Parts: sequence; structure tokens; C-alpha cells
Amino acid sequence: MDDTFRNMVSLATDAVLGLTNLDDEIVVDDLELEGELPAWLGGSLLRTGPARWDLGEQSVNHWFDGLAMLHRFTIAGGRVSYANRFLRSKAFAAAKDGRIGYREFATDPCRSAFKRVASLFDPGVTDNANVNVAKIMGKWVALTEAPMAVQFDPETLETLGVQEIPASTGGLAHPHGEDGRALSMGVHLMGLRPQYRLIEDDRITARLPVRRPAYIHSFAMTERHAVLVEHPYTVNPLKLGFGSRPFIENFKWSPEHGTRFVVFDRRTGKHVGDWRGDPFFVFHNVNAFEDSGDIVIDLCAYADAQIVPALALKRLRSGEPVPKAYLERFRLKPGGGVERTRLSDEPLELPRIDYGRVNGRPYRYAWGAGARAEFIDTIVKVDVTTGETRTWGEGYPGEPVYVGRPGRTEEDDGVLLSVVLEPERGTSSMVVLDAATLTELARARVPHHIPFGFHGQFNRA
Ligand SMILES: [Fe+2]
Repeated sequence: MDDTFRNMVSLATDAVLGLTNLDDEIVVDDLELEGELPAWLGGSLLRTGPARWDLGEQSVNHWFDGLAMLHRFTIAGGRVSYANRFLRSKAFAAAKDGRIGYREFATDPCRSAFKRVASLFDPGVTDNANVNVAKIMGKWVALTEAPMAVQFDPETLETLGVQEIPASTGGLAHPHGEDGRALSMGVHLMGLRPQYRLIEDDRITARLPVRRPAYIHSFAMTERHAVLVEHPYTVNPLKLGFGSRPFIENFKWSPEHGTRFVVFDRRTGKHVGDWRGDPFFVFHNVNAFEDSGDIVIDLCAYADAQIVPALALKRLRSGEPVPKAYLERFRLKPGGGVERTRLSDEPLELPRIDYGRVNGRPYRYAWGAGARAEFIDTIVKVDVTTGETRTWGEGYPGEPVYVGRPGRTEEDDGVLLSVVLEPERGTSSMVVLDAATLTELARARVPHHIPFGFHGQFNRA
């Protein structure tokens, strides 16, 4: 078996349900519950993700382009309540008429170059915030890869409107948060001077000009540094403005350029330097920290950018193979060298850590969704200090959100909350796993299927 084949996995035939439209919006006060919830666990798991890809006669092109739906699981008094609601975005309103109204990740309604130039100035860029949720400057918002955020009510999931907070998200759906502040890395693609920007709340603290910006989905932060992992998947910004292809199709994989690790000093905003390593592709950074003069970055690495077209809707639905990501460590040495190590042989994506305690610092555990036999069929725990790996697999789980037990002394003393698709029942559940052992503690059954989504956050009671 060659390496290429071994590193690919397909969506199971029955799991295509996870890429099937969900139209119903419901509120359930008391979900059917199996097992027992920890007494200390209280609050809401808030998630966003695509839920409708087929609009009238047309379908969007990519998993990432479905219309955003919010989901809420509230744990209180030993029970779990649930609600789900489409985000009432401009993209949602257009779709009601069976139209794809806005520029999505891999779908573009607009064929005319003239209209495209006009659309650079916001109106055409989507507000379909289906990637992540975050609490920024006291407000719960849904995020996508555009410089805006859609505020929502964390209780009713009602859409409250688009927030013009370009600086705090910078167009990245994975801002960092620390002491109530939002830190982000923005890729400013438009205009004649594309640049990477480091952003704190609504202030740009660093700018670095770049000729061919990379597609950046997340960035890494240590206590002292912010690190942008610039893989060689880059764009000529003029093509974005004048070309006729959807957003992501303008990016080109150029492995000969390798990967550049761009390091900024967080305090001064100074560009400290660049480190250069092998080419690989990354969506998700996991964690980063300083270690005796080295900057250590852990991330979910793909061999190349094939993952982007592999997640196209038609290809996924038809069971075409999808590349796997692995948890890898990159050690930036003071002399400019980059050491690369694979931390576990178990594939891992949609990573989570005990963020509030260990982000930016040396840490021990990473959790994520894995792919043993099929596309996302496992939850994985990796001890990054030893490589020891545990897995749990039943149905098709999504991102495992870690919630630590208050007062814990161990990093894995808590639970994982993951939405799991159970095709044999035609529905999904929120599963509660012990974060240390990955044993199942409880399962709250939802009366419908929940399409495969991306990210969520736990809002503690
Ligand atoms: Fe993401």
C-alpha cells in the first residue's frame, strides 16, 4: 500500500446523512438522556455549521459553503435542552428565493468581472457565518472567513445583526482570546498592498506586507509571540479582484516555496523573523509555546492542499477519498532551523486543548476528531509529551469541545462534548465523554440529524 492511499479516507455511505439539508428549527426543553451528567457541568455548548447546501435547483460547491445554522445544548439540573436556528444572514435571505446571493468559500454567484470589483467593497462578500462562534467584547458572534461577525442571542439563537468589528476578527474565524481581549491575525487581501496584520481587539498592532498572501485559517500564539504559518498555498490578489473563479480556487499550491513561519513579538508588534521549513498544508494550529529559546508549534498538518478540493460537496457525498491530517510539532530553533516531529500516528483534526489554562504555554493533552476507517469516525486524545494516544469511536463525531472540571489539578480532568451523527437512527446526539479516559458518560439524543459542522464553544453557566 503506498503512502498516498494510506493517508486517504472516505466518507461512509451512511454518513452522507451528515451532508444532507436540515430544514427544521426546533426547541426541545428536555432531550432524551442516557447515562449521567457530571454534577459540576453547567452551561451551553454553542455551535455553528452549514445546514443547507441545496437551494432550489442549485447546490453550493463545497462543504464549507452551506447556510449557517446555530445549535445550542444547555446542560442544567441534570438535563439537556436543545435549540437550532438558521442564522438570518443576507445569504440566508437570498437563498430563500432559491438564489446563491453572495461569494462563499468555493461558490460564487457572480460571473461578471465588473460586478466582482464592485463586490470587493463588502456587499457581495458573504455573512454566512458557519465556521465558529466566539464571545468578543462581551457579545456572542458567529464567524466566517470575512472581516465581520454576526451577533446572536446565546439563549434564543436569534440573529441580532452584523457587527462591523473588522479589526477584532480580521477575517479569521479563529481569533484567540485572553483576559477578555480578542487577538487575531488578519490577512488583508484587497487593494494594492496586501498584508498580514496582527490585531488586538479593534487595534492593528502589526503589519507585514506580502506579495502573495497565503490562505490562513488560524494562527498560533505563545506567551511572547504570534506565529503565522504561511504554507505555500497562496494567491495573486489581483486574481481575486478580476478573475472569474470562486475565492479559494484562486489559491495555488507551490511546494517549491516551502512553509514560512512568520514570527511577531506580541508586545511590540515587531516582525521578529522568518523560519523556513518543508511544504505542508494547515487549517488548524493546536497550541504553541516557548521552550528554552525555541518556539514550539503544534498543528494538524496535511501533506498538501489537496484537502481543499477533496471537501467539495459532490466529492464528499460520492465517497471520494479525503486526505488525513496528523498532529505534528515544529520547533523553530534560534539559528533558523526547523525541526519537525509527528506526535501521534492517529489522524487528528478539529483540535481542542484546555485553552484557558494552557494556550501559549507548555501543555500535555490535545483532543480532536480522527479518521480511522472512515472520514471523521473517531475522537482522539494525544499526550503530546509521550505520544500516548487513546481513541473513542462510535458513529460520526464532530469537534470534541473540552470543558474542564472547576478546581482541577490535572489537565484532562473534565469532559469532552461532541455532536455525533448516528445514521442507523437517522439522528444525532450530544455525547459527553470523560476527557481523561474517553469513556462515555452521557448521551443526549436530538430528534433530528445535525449536519456536519465545524466549531463551537462552551458558555459556562
Ligand atoms: Fe476551523
